[in-house]
Amino acid sequence: MRVTLTALHKMCDEGDRITMLTCYDGSFAGLLEAAGVDVLLVGDSLGNVIQAEDTTLPVTMDHMVYHTRCVARGSKRAFLVTDMPFGSFQVSPAATFENAARLMAVGAQMVKVEGGQTIADTVEFLTSRGIPVCGHVGLTPQSVHQLGGYRVQGKTDKAARQLIRDAQALEQAGAGMIVLELVPASLSAQVSEKLRIPTIGIGAGKACDGQVLVLYDMLNIFPGKKARFVKNYMEAAGTIQGAVEAFVKEVKTGSFPAPEHSF
Ligand code: KIV
Repeated sequence: MRVTLTALHKMCDEGDRITMLTCYDGSFAGLLEAAGVDVLLVGDSLGNVIQAEDTTLPVTMDHMVYHTRCVARGSKRAFLVTDMPFGSFQVSPAATFENAARLMAVGAQMVKVEGGQTIADTVEFLTSRGIPVCGHVGLTPQSVHQLGGYRVQGKTDKAARQLIRDAQALEQAGAGMIVLELVPASLSAQVSEKLRIPTIGIGAGKACDGQVLVLYDMLNIFPGKKARFVKNYMEAAGTIQGAVEAFVKEVKTGSFPAPEHSF
């Protein structure tokens, strides 16, 4: 039996931190859930780490369907979230539903969409038709060209107020979970305080209800300088299983992210 969204909400209510890692294939799916990861995110970061693209923008619905099917077949217990790729939810409501339904049909239990207030109507359209939605605010990689790079968001008072409004609008529209990416720790603490749904941070400090990292980053697949919020779990663990188990343990005990991984 897979972890459910209800179970994730209960974990959040009880202060049990949620662990999430990106996953793109069946072999890793089995390994990650055996190591105790609660949620597998079939992220469109597969554009960067699998396809060697510079951005996530070239990722298509067909790619996401393929990788979601692989992850679903390789796992039995973890909750599965899949990204809706760039351009797949900015279309007509009917086409957006059709795209989300394709992902659900191959095993996603929830779809993730990037954006705030401006996509609240899309979130409402999907959730009111039975498709659970995870929001994603802060640094939204699909808007990298508009944002002018991969930078910390919500740094000014005005931007922070807007980010809070965005997160609240998504919750009101029915989102069941929300990713906060590259957000100052104090701001994500405020957002987490204001929302009832779980917040999952990446470069957003330790006050979130859970944490996510890109699997290939925490496994140090690409050696060299890492973003500040990434921890190389292979360094101490030595094995992939040990690295993932250490991530799970550190998130659950609240020792990751440390101040040096936060803004
Ligand atoms: O695609 C992805 O990997 C993501 C995470 C950065 C949250 O959306």
